[in-house]
Amino acid sequence: MNEFTSSFWSWYIIVLTVVSLVGVAIFLASQRTRRLAPGEKAEEMSHKWDGDLVELNNPLPSWWVNLFWITLIFSAGYLVLYPGLGSFKGVLGWTSFGQYDSEMAKAREKYDPIFNQFLGQPVEQVAASAEARDMGQRLFLTYCAQCHGSDAAGATGFPNLTDKDWLYGGDAEAIKASIANGRMGVMPALGAALGTDGTKQVAHYVLSLSGSNHDAGLAAAGKPLFEANCAACHMPDGTGMAAMGAPNLTDKVWLYGGTEAAIIEAIEKGRAGNMPAQLQALGEAKVHLLAAYVWGLGGGVAMAAPQPAPAAEAAAPAAEEAPAAQ
Ligand code: HEC
Ligand code: HEC
Repeated sequence: MNEFTSSFWSWYIIVLTVVSLVGVAIFLASQRTRRLAPGEKAEEMSHKWDGDLVELNNPLPSWWVNLFWITLIFSAGYLVLYPGLGSFKGVLGWTSFGQYDSEMAKAREKYDPIFNQFLGQPVEQVAASAEARDMGQRLFLTYCAQCHGSDAAGATGFPNLTDKDWLYGGDAEAIKASIANGRMGVMPALGAALGTDGTKQVAHYVLSLSGSNHDAGLAAAGKPLFEANCAACHMPDGTGMAAMGAPNLTDKVWLYGGTEAAIIEAIEKGRAGNMPAQLQALGEAKVHLLAAYVWGLGGGVAMAAPQPAPAAEAAAPAAEEAPAAQ
């Protein structure tokens, strides 16, 4: 009722409701039951049907009338305690939002410790826990499967999360950042700049990068165009750049398809993949579990952090192998 600026409709409902309740009470009181004295006969109402079916003026059974009184008292009590009378909020102050919030708070109290227990562990360690993987999978099916597929294998425009091919990097931190903050891959439309012929030539050069079927003459003409227009994001060798989300064009893994037509469309119209940020909606603990789940799907890459004493470890096996080779 808050959306009305005048209180007219609120009072309209209050008056209508109270008058009806009082009216029903008065009517019930006027029909008060009077027991028949022993031997007294119920009055005949002089209505007859089918020859001998007569209507009697028996008093209403008191259990039945009392049921009416109970419903009346119940509604009066309800309208005092809960919102119902116009914009009167009820003395309990109950709201559906309040109930939702308190139920959510109760659920958080119960489930937060379960989710939080993994927050202190590195993603790689969480991914090794079967319990965490189960929780991650349930979260994935709820929040991610509609775009990435229930098996996380992706679809056109939605990356496969189970392979080692990553737009933004496949180590624990990069995956967690992708999920928490979202990603926005922007490939500008370059068709106008390149013209129809130039677009076709670059497209054939792109095809040649992954050893796909291409026209060698067109590809040779496209090479300088690629270096001038595409290398800034896809790198001069076409292997892509994780910082921009620019895909590697030298493998046969395609986000939008590896046909000549799909590549020409990417160049002409541009592409803009959007991964929505999840941190605010899900909270850090669930994002952490999801990152571990995705990392553990098979494509997870070890962090590039420097390993302790790599020289000593690398030297040891070499020394052991040396005598064996002789
Ligand atoms: C509305 C669709 C949508 C939903 C929902 C969605 N994603 Fe994505 N996600 C994408 C798109 C599109 C991309 C690629 C963005 C781009 O092209 O730059 C992506 C990219 C990613 C990446 C980076 C992949 C790479 O190769 O670097 C990860 C990791 C990821 N999503 C995980 C998730 C997880 C986990 C969830 C569930 C919490 C999720 N996504 C929900 C659409 C979605
Ligand atoms: C400003 C950076 C930028 C430039 C310049 C750029 N691209 Fe891209 N390109 C991207 C990004 C980012 C994506 C991924 C878009 C997405 O995630 O939706 C992409 C996607 C593509 C794809 C789709 C790849 C797939 O896996 O389906 C092709 C093909 C492509 N670019 C070719 C080119 C060519 C050819 C040029 C030069 C004519 C070029 N790009 C110039 C950033 C760039």
